[in-house]
Order: sequence, then structure tokens, then C-alpha cells
Amino acid sequence: MVDRSPPQTQTSGETAAHGDALRRRFPTVESLRQRARRRVPNFAFDFVDGGCNDDECVRRNMRAFADIELLPRYCIDTDAIATDVGLFGRRYAAPFGVAPMGSAGMMWPGAEVFLAREAQRRRVPYILATPANASIERIADVAPDVFWFQLYRFPQDNHAITFDLLKRADEAGAHVLVPTIDSAGKSKRPRDIRNGVRVPFKIGPKTFFQIATSPGWAMALRKTGMLRTENIAPYTEGRATRDSTAQTMQIKARGSHTFDELARLRDRWKRAFVVKGVLHPEDAERLVSLGVDGLIVSNHGGRHFDGAPASVDMLPAIVAVAGKRATVMIDSGIRSGLDILRALALGASAAFIGRPLLYGLGALGGTGARFVMEMFDDELRTEMKHVGIQAVTAASEITVRHPGAWRSA
Ligand code: FNR
Repeated sequence: MVDRSPPQTQTSGETAAHGDALRRRFPTVESLRQRARRRVPNFAFDFVDGGCNDDECVRRNMRAFADIELLPRYCIDTDAIATDVGLFGRRYAAPFGVAPMGSAGMMWPGAEVFLAREAQRRRVPYILATPANASIERIADVAPDVFWFQLYRFPQDNHAITFDLLKRADEAGAHVLVPTIDSAGKSKRPRDIRNGVRVPFKIGPKTFFQIATSPGWAMALRKTGMLRTENIAPYTEGRATRDSTAQTMQIKARGSHTFDELARLRDRWKRAFVVKGVLHPEDAERLVSLGVDGLIVSNHGGRHFDGAPASVDMLPAIVAVAGKRATVMIDSGIRSGLDILRALALGASAAFIGRPLLYGLGALGGTGARFVMEMFDDELRTEMKHVGIQAVTAASEITVRHPGAWRSA
């Protein structure tokens, strides 16, 4: 079953006054999160919102950003702010993009297409996750200029599925391949355990009640049809259903791409190659020697290992070892345009946003994609004026105090 009816970005009827009212009602990511919590079935909201174990790493990511101070500079003409950025030979309109999120449709059915369409419209990178609810081919069609593909590891049969996904991403014209390395083992997610979110997913009375009392979400699901792990459909034995695609993903995707495997992937992929989930400076150094073009410093938004440091606290050490030879980017814990500026000031070339985009969709439906990206864009432009820079490339001149920064050993 392919997504039956492509979601439409519902902006045509939106008046300026309506937009203004929404901005007053939802001035922050947290206000969108609260609204999403009320509109989306609890099991689905928790799946997206939660981290692993005690959610310590989720909180650490946000705390670490909040602790970073940027010293303002005034008496500078900042009338003309430019946020565009060059990444791997292409120009993007802003130094932020959409992080890969598997099963994003849990928060709002059709999420991937809404986000990809808006990313294409504003020309910012969109990374499709391997376990997404939309296929490589569909997203390449929706967002041809900004499409990157995230790749998980399928070790069976000498990595046959991994290489087939790579081939499909290549044929579809993905600009960047993004293997993720930080999924070494199964993580413990107490909220999912409590809510019965597992594969195969059984809709019991509690889940049914949550869906029945979330009419907007249920309507969106009717439009898209059951959420499949679309990219995996060709690899199921028998009919590709919601459960069989999710099950195949769960059984066959395993572990962290090893350095040798990454070298094979690097060899096979002719365009830009970016490894996501890097935290240790020595791993960064080794990856750069393998010939990667970029790194995304990330702890998966605190969803895999609760003991991990905040990714922004590792950023300076990784920029120090890899910044001259590779493009260093970051995600995990970014909740405002100010956080993006903090990341840029510490040497990141771009920042990727995860949950805030899904909170926007949960709160507002399809229009949430534009709403959140616009919020980040407006905030970034405002904060750039406070630190006295007109262009993203000048972010390295910002004076920063970063108490939580890890130093290289
Ligand atoms: C993710 N993330 C993720 N990463 C990845 O490489 N492949 C994946 O399939 C997923 N799936 C996924 C699902 C959901 C629901 C979330 C919230 C996240 C991690 C994601 O790319 C990114 O690293 C974090 O979301 C960034 O942290 P914040 O912005 O959510 O704090």
C-alpha cells in the first residue's frame, strides 16, 4: 500500500490575521509541544517525545544549550541579514535542516511529506530516515533539491539490504548519504513499554480510546492509510503490511556500521557522505581518515544511551580534530533559533532539528511544518543582530562561554 492520498500543505486559506493569532498562541516550541500533547494519542506523542531510561540525556541536551552564553556586540549595521549556507557544493537558504525521524507519522500521519515539501519550498536540507513512513522514491519526487538519505545497518546476507537502499537512494538522486552509527543496541524506552508500543503493534482498548478521542489525528490517518515502514516494503517476505514492514525492520536492522563497513559504503557512494551519531573525538578522527565529507555530532536526541554527554558539549572537541577536513554539523536538543546560533558559534556548519518539527505538526497539522521552520528562521535572524553578524559565515567571530564543553583527552 503506497500513501494513498498525498497530504496537502494547508496554507492556501490561511489569512495573515490567522497566522498572527497562531504566533501569539504558540510563541515557543514548548507551547507547540503542550498543544501536541493534547491533540495526539498519548502512545504516539510519548513515542516521539520520550528518550531512553530516565530521559536524562534529553534534558541534558537542552540544559547544555541553555548554559552557553554568546557575548553581544552592538554599534554594527545588521540591516541585511543573510542566512544562506553552502553544504557539499549546494546552497541552502538557512543553516538548519530536518533531522531523520523514523515513524514520524506517529506524531502526525503524512509527517514526512509535509516536512519534505516545506524543506523543498524554503530550500533547507531534509534527511529521510530509513524507517520513515514515506519511501525514498516518494521523497525524491517531493523534495528533489534538498533530499538526503539516512542509512541504517542490515548485516544479513553481506549487507544486501543496506546496499540496495544505497542504490535506491543513488538512483533517486539523494544528494547526501547519512549512515547513522549510534544505534549499537536496543534501547530501553519506559514510556513505550508502558504504552504497549512494540512490534507487532496491537490496538487494545486503551489505544483505541486514545485514537477515538484525537479526531484530527484520526482523520489524518484515514487520509494516509496505515503507516508502513515504506522503505522496507521490498524486503518483506510476502505481503508488505504495517506489521510485516515494521517487523522486518526490527529483525534485520542491527548494530552500528563498523569502520570497515563504512569504508565499503564510502567507496560505493559517489556523492557527499556524512556520518551521523558521532560523539567521541577519536571516532571523528578515524572517520575523517576514511574519507567522510561530514559528521553530525549527535546522541540521537537522547533516545539511545542515557549516559551520553550532550552533543553540543562534544562539538568543540570534534571541530578541533575534524573541522579542517570535514563539515561538522550537529543535532540533539535544539529548541530555538538561538540554539542554532550557539551551535554555529561553536563551529557547526549546520544544525538539524528533530522533535520541534513534529510538535509543530502535532499541534497544527500539516501547516505546522511551515510554522516551526518560520519560527526558527525568524529567531535566528533576530539573534544574529544581537551578536552583530550579518552572515552565517561570520558566526566563528562570536565570543562564546561554554562551561560544559568536553576537552579532548
Ligand atoms: C529520531 N532520530 C533518528 N535518527 C536516525 O538517524 N534515524 C532514525 O530513524 C531516527 N528516528 C527518530 C525518530 C524520532 C521520533 C525521533 C524524535 C528521532 C534521531 C533524530 O535524527 C535526531 O538525532 C534527534 O531527534 C535530534 O534531537 P531533538 O532535536 O529531537 O532533540
